[in-house]
Amino acid sequence: MTVPATTASANLTPLVDTTAFPEAVDGEVRAAHRLYEHLIGIWAPGVIEAAQDLGAFAALTVGPATAAQLAEVLDTDLRATRVLLDGLYAYDVVERSRGEDGQAVYTLPAELHGVFAPDGLFSLAGKIGHDRNVAWNAWRRLAENVRSGARTAEGAQQLNQISEEDYTSLVRGINFWAPPITRSLAGALRELGWTTGRSRTLLDVGCGTGIYSHLLLREFPELTARGLDAERIIPIAARQAGQLGVAERFQGEVVDFWSEDWGSGTDLALFVNIFHLQTPESARELLLKAVKGLTEDGVIAIADHIVDEDGGEGSVQNKFFRLFAASMLATGGGDAFTVHDYDQWLADAGLRRIGLLDTPMHRVLLARRS
Ligand SMILES: C[S@@+](CC[C@H](N)C(=O)[O-])C[C@H]1O[C@@H](n2cnc3c(N)ncnc32)[C@H](O)[C@@H]1O
Repeated sequence: MTVPATTASANLTPLVDTTAFPEAVDGEVRAAHRLYEHLIGIWAPGVIEAAQDLGAFAALTVGPATAAQLAEVLDTDLRATRVLLDGLYAYDVVERSRGEDGQAVYTLPAELHGVFAPDGLFSLAGKIGHDRNVAWNAWRRLAENVRSGARTAEGAQQLNQISEEDYTSLVRGINFWAPPITRSLAGALRELGWTTGRSRTLLDVGCGTGIYSHLLLREFPELTARGLDAERIIPIAARQAGQLGVAERFQGEVVDFWSEDWGSGTDLALFVNIFHLQTPESARELLLKAVKGLTEDGVIAIADHIVDEDGGEGSVQNKFFRLFAASMLATGGGDAFTVHDYDQWLADAGLRRIGLLDTPMHRVLLARRS
């Protein structure tokens, strides 16, 4: 069986067999089928999140099980458990085979064990929890936010409003984005002369778990990093630095990046998933602040949902970024800004773009002083 975790994209589960249309069926009916397939997109998180809620993945991590065995462990209804497991099988989340007695046996592939484990480095447990607590309700508000522009009481565009509490539960749920980004970024930095023999400093602004710092520290043994974030988040980053063996070169600092100074001597100022939370005004302000502490040949790296209108409008990334912008709007403010937007803000801060890297769900923009 092809396991989705090893394929290019998870969305390989067509639910409309378009080859089965009789010829006479007209365009409108075909279009309705296509749109219906979008509308039932909600089924995927429904089934996966219910299984996570019930502890089904934790139980299947122990070993394969029949619906009856799982229902006993989870204290759930047998028929309903079978329905749920078959739903997971339809989305290629679990494998399904026949046991000796003819009953279906469900197996969670090994590469998905960590994906559902609450403490896994690249676990989606935080993302699932966040969606249950925030996203399901937020999407209901999208129409209203489109009507009002999701503005503050004073009429200004607002920053994205995820609370510290909500972010604390989500925080590890986006770690999985990091490895392709840090690998591409490290390659680009080497091309810019980041070879061994010189110690350098990284400033990770709004570092979250610090995963980007931690992976870059592993790429560059002479690098030291400072991660700035809120009081509830920094201990998470410090703990993870220890788990990844870079605690001696990572310093987490409780700093409000708006009101406090960021220090100086920065060779690489890194912003990952920070700009999409901003307004154009606050984005410009961040770059003005970053350039102040940057060394003469320092680099600014922004990994985000950056729409490249010149680089293939219909690209997979651009599609994802535009929908990410809609999800930002559903939860408050924020946006997926374009390369052109960034170029303007860079110019205002005396910076120029020197690179744009494609990664699976982000682009990484590199800049230096003009
Ligand atoms: C979307 S997360 C990105 C975290 C990390 N860079 C990543 O991509 O995994 C945004 C981070 O910015 C932090 N943050 C937001 N406003 C901040 C502020 N004013 N000062 C310091 N950190 C802030 C949040 O606590 C959160 O960890």
